[in-house]
Amino acid sequence: MPIPEDFINELKSRTDISEVISGYVRLKKTGRSLMGLCPFHSEHTPSFSVSRENGFFYCFGCGVGGDVITFIRRIENLDYVEAVKLLADRAGMTLPEQNADNSMTILRNRIYEANREAARFYNKQLYSPAGAAAMGYLKKRELSEKTIIHFGLGYSPASRFELVNHLRKKGFTNSELIAANLANQTKNGNAIDRFSDRVMFPIIDLRGNVIGFGGRIMSDIKPKYLNTSETPVFNKSRNLFALQFAKNKAKGQLILVEGYMDVIALHQAGFENAVATLGTALTAEQSNIIKRYCDEVVICYDSDEAGQKATARAISILRPTGLNIKVLTVPNGKDPDEFIRSYKDQGSARFRMLLEKSGNDIEYNISKLKASFDLNVPSQRVEFLTKAARMISELDNPVERDVYISRLSKELNVEKNSMKQLVDRGIRQHEKKQYSQEQIRAENIMNARNDRLNSEKRFNLRAANAEEALISLMILNPDAAVFVAQKVRPELFVTAFNRRIYEILMKRAESGLDISMTSIAGEFSAEEMSRIAGMLAAHPRENDAVAAAGEYISILEEESGRLTYDQIAAADNETIMEQLRKMKKKKQ
Ligand code: UTP
Ligand code: MN
Repeated sequence: MPIPEDFINELKSRTDISEVISGYVRLKKTGRSLMGLCPFHSEHTPSFSVSRENGFFYCFGCGVGGDVITFIRRIENLDYVEAVKLLADRAGMTLPEQNADNSMTILRNRIYEANREAARFYNKQLYSPAGAAAMGYLKKRELSEKTIIHFGLGYSPASRFELVNHLRKKGFTNSELIAANLANQTKNGNAIDRFSDRVMFPIIDLRGNVIGFGGRIMSDIKPKYLNTSETPVFNKSRNLFALQFAKNKAKGQLILVEGYMDVIALHQAGFENAVATLGTALTAEQSNIIKRYCDEVVICYDSDEAGQKATARAISILRPTGLNIKVLTVPNGKDPDEFIRSYKDQGSARFRMLLEKSGNDIEYNISKLKASFDLNVPSQRVEFLTKAARMISELDNPVERDVYISRLSKELNVEKNSMKQLVDRGIRQHEKKQYSQEQIRAENIMNARNDRLNSEKRFNLRAANAEEALISLMILNPDAAVFVAQKVRPELFVTAFNRRIYEILMKRAESGLDISMTSIAGEFSAEEMSRIAGMLAAHPRENDAVAAAGEYISILEEESGRLTYDQIAAADNETIMEQLRKMKKKKQ
């Protein structure tokens, strides 16, 4: 392990997982644990739990979990060492200098450097004779010199080898350039430039690293924009274009637009709080990032049909964050960039007017709905009110619900009380739809059938469950861990994944090292940590840990080597479910 044991122990003692997570998720105390809305998937009812006492989090909805380091790794999109660094800074500790022996960290740093050098190269090209057409294009789109510099725009030459040649001369290898997605690999293993004859938009993260590029073609050839695809440093669902500028200008509000050019036009017009997704629909992760920098988000998508659909989707993704949501509709089918330009030097003032009159999301949804009915026809009035009541019933805040019930009943001249009854009915229906714990458990069992991490589990569920119980028990009751380590040889574990976890725990117990989620986080991927957190969530701390350990060990002894390969191959769904039912009965 690259980071000294003592350092991790100290970090663990100085870090309270619930405090760290509270910086990202609103947590409420429920029984022994804290619950909130999961930041890793979109949900309306909390299934994200944090155990302060045992130092782990777990989402019963999507199955993501782990210790505090894993949380930071996931939410900040960092690798293990970077996440430890971030937490150490927070705790006022300095990570001892270490020989960077983590090959992934090395590669990521090389990609950052290659990207930075590429951005410089593209920018230089823009100012060269080869870039004259691209410069002309940007001028035609009315970008000022200052804006071009501010966003570090550039031009990728048409030849398909110039960037690669340039970066090779600077010491980058073909495989680094391919990993950075700056180059594509040819059939005979060479590298050629990925971007050719395009205007280049560097994408920069919050720490100032160039993580990727968007490139716009200057003709009608498709695709209009080519973006960097997934690389070790670039994940388009976890980043937002221009957030590095917008976060300092937010003053409580961010404007969310669809495209690179919309962001740039808005910043140029003085709206430096605009950000955009990177060529995909808004994700739950992005909405959580947005929430960190503002209390209000104004969705300002294209007014065409696709844009309106995307608006409805973005609203439903943003709603669980508790952010105040507004919708700005640009008139005449224009996007924000076109709108601003169409008013020449009045563009900025005109856009401000739109911004000021943008309504909140529920108003937006209701006015959309209203437009699709003829309210003079009684049956259509009823249908409109019924559907509007459904929308209102989705609001969590009763005062807010009341405001809209009053407003609509007055407007359409119906009894407020009957409107309220409709809304209440909607609320009851939502509640019915919500997942019961039972369903979630059933789903988890089914998911275990397609288990990538532990594909052997389904072939011997009883043993695998005992293994997982034993692993949980060791982590939750470190005292009993020593007892288990003395009794159980790793060979007794049937499944390789659980055996690997056990071997690590056993060695730690034997050497008298700390056993906790945080102390083992460096040994597992974020996905693996989720699985371990899931085990802990399914096995609460035992009162008499040694006695319980004894029971699990005897199950392992019974089961060890029981199923032959032939039996496994013959085992169908029903057999496996039957085994599960038997196990349940035994427990009762
Ligand atoms: P739009 O097609 O609305 O383009 O795509 P735009 O932003 O108005 O661009 P201009 O004004 O014609 O230059 C919106 C966003 O969707 C992504 C890009 O991020 C773009 O900014 N997109 C679009 C792609 O990633 N690839 C495409 O081929 C098209
Ligand atoms: Mn546009």
